[in-house]
Amino acid sequence: MKVNFVDLKAQYQTIKPEIDSAIGNVISNTAFILGKAVADFEEKFASYCEVKHAIGINSGTSALIMALKALEIGEGDEVITAPNTFIATAEAISYAGAKPVFVDIEEKSYNLDPAKLEKAIAKKAKAIIPVHLYGQPADMDPIVQIAQKKGIAVIEDACQAHGALYKGKRTGSLAMVGCFSFYPGKNLGAYGEGGAVTTNSDEIAQKVRMLRDHGSPKKFYHEYIGNNCRLEGIQGAVLSVKLNHLDDWNNKRRENADLYRKHLDKTSVKVPDEMPYAKHVYHVFCVRVKDREKLIDFLKQKSIFTNIHYPIPIHLQNAYSFLGYEKGSFPVTEGCMDEILSLPMFAELTEEQIKYTTDCIKEFYGE
Ligand SMILES: Cc1ncc(COP(=O)(O)O)c(C=O)c1O
Repeated sequence: MKVNFVDLKAQYQTIKPEIDSAIGNVISNTAFILGKAVADFEEKFASYCEVKHAIGINSGTSALIMALKALEIGEGDEVITAPNTFIATAEAISYAGAKPVFVDIEEKSYNLDPAKLEKAIAKKAKAIIPVHLYGQPADMDPIVQIAQKKGIAVIEDACQAHGALYKGKRTGSLAMVGCFSFYPGKNLGAYGEGGAVTTNSDEIAQKVRMLRDHGSPKKFYHEYIGNNCRLEGIQGAVLSVKLNHLDDWNNKRRENADLYRKHLDKTSVKVPDEMPYAKHVYHVFCVRVKDREKLIDFLKQKSIFTNIHYPIPIHLQNAYSFLGYEKGSFPVTEGCMDEILSLPMFAELTEEQIKYTTDCIKEFYGE
């Protein structure tokens, strides 16, 4: 048996006629950039996220940059985030011209620890970017409360958490701005690059719409120095089709997470916790294991493919050495770093594949 880490071919087979027809329509209409397919998707995605506006962007990284720019965050400012995220969160802060400042995570949720937040907010801090890592929302209420007290903005990095809920509310609606990635392997993935900004603010929405399109309110008139960060028509069409399936797929991921829990019960493998305030959508099913590298090789020999999200936290990456953080700066993040392992997770994963994976893990540990 083979167990891929993700299987986009299996997903395509379940939606092929809808996708092929949606892509065909864009090609027939030749509306390749923005256009009706993107506008339709923006409307559907805003309603799904329970916000007034969704703006289609060409990637999650660009969505974060556009959000920061729309809030006029840049040179001389600091933006707080978690050190265990994908590097794009920090890169967006850097590209906006600001300085990333990291705050350690909670061991249970792997998300930014609100208890450690206040101390890190210096005078130059202008925003906090909590990351809903692996598909589980960060504990937003205390984060938003602290931000309000300090008079700074909150931008959700919801790039891994499409459709997740925090106290019954959708990610993307939990702060001033939300940012999504539609990288193909995401819970809601495009057939290429894609992203979105969500907000209830008319002003921010209007600004992001201009910024993504050369700062332009209408052709050849430019209010701001913007960029080319537009979502393509084909991606809008694909995303509209896939959005109809997102809740089913997320529920399947949740069932698969339960199956992993059942089959790994009474083993030394630590399965992820679902926080009481969260409906997790398991973009990543991250376990904690001993002897990780040997286990990875053992599983690979059995044709089971795993991943590590992420092997090196951002504060220890060469790209960010100039910030001057040292080993030991974030003990919780660093304590997880050598143990975390992402097991195969996608909606089409079968119980047989999960059982085979967990049997192989038990064989490795002799459990
Ligand atoms: C947490 C997080 N932030 C930002 C991004 C960047 O998104 P993109 O790859 O679409 O630029 C990703 C994508 O992997 C992500 O996982």
